[in-house]
Amino acid sequence: MRDRIVAGNWKMNKDWDQALSLVADIQQSLSQETTNSDKIILAPPFIYLAELAKTVAQTQGLFLSAQNCHQEEAGAYTGEVSAPMLKALGVEYVILGHSERREYFSETNELLASKVEAVLNQNLKPIFCCGEPLSVRESNMQEAYVNQQLTESLFKLSAERISEIVIAYEPIWAIGTGRTASAEQAQEMHASIRSHLADQYGHDIAQGISILYGGSCKPSNANEIFAGADVDGGLIGGASLNAADFLAIARSFE
Ligand code: 13P
Repeated sequence: MRDRIVAGNWKMNKDWDQALSLVADIQQSLSQETTNSDKIILAPPFIYLAELAKTVAQTQGLFLSAQNCHQEEAGAYTGEVSAPMLKALGVEYVILGHSERREYFSETNELLASKVEAVLNQNLKPIFCCGEPLSVRESNMQEAYVNQQLTESLFKLSAERISEIVIAYEPIWAIGTGRTASAEQAQEMHASIRSHLADQYGHDIAQGISILYGGSCKPSNANEIFAGADVDGGLIGGASLNAADFLAIARSFE
């Protein structure tokens, strides 16, 4: 019913030769053995997208994502990349609101609402990241914190538009730390996110939205995490930089 998705966020990693070789390894492996993911998404740095778009399109079930984009369509914004530019290359997804963008580039819920709109205006799909810092988890306020992120960035969207979104729940304390959320913690938050979506948009729409888990997801824990009823896959950082690990995760659905 919902797409089962495994997405690799390369962040600012891999030189060009390494990028080519990683994609070639992924395609080679997919040509020999499929996965039980519906979609496998690669999110390399911007400058690799144009060239990789040519090869990725040849592999069924493999898609490209950007890691960010600007909220305006064009203009005097030195160093930025717009959603129409991504669309023209054949990119299909854009990660928005990653905690690293929120922290190091001061992205707010309000700014992200405009980026989400800019991306949807091009018929691209946002992979909208949410998730709480450790201090919020320790005071057990994570549901309210994430609900506020969703409310302020997404809930002005129409029902038709929200259905185009993929949500990634990434608890900040689990990102790059080796400390993953337990399968129970992940499922609990995903169920809470889906219930907020249902409150806002109704049961059917909420049931159709894929919610991915991110944060130290690896071949050894993906199976257990993905078994959660509301966990529809993963947004993978470190483990997406190795083809064998990434594809092992993409084969971790029951
Ligand atoms: P890690 O898988 O390296 O913890 O990173 C998760 C992440 O930030 C994906 O966007």
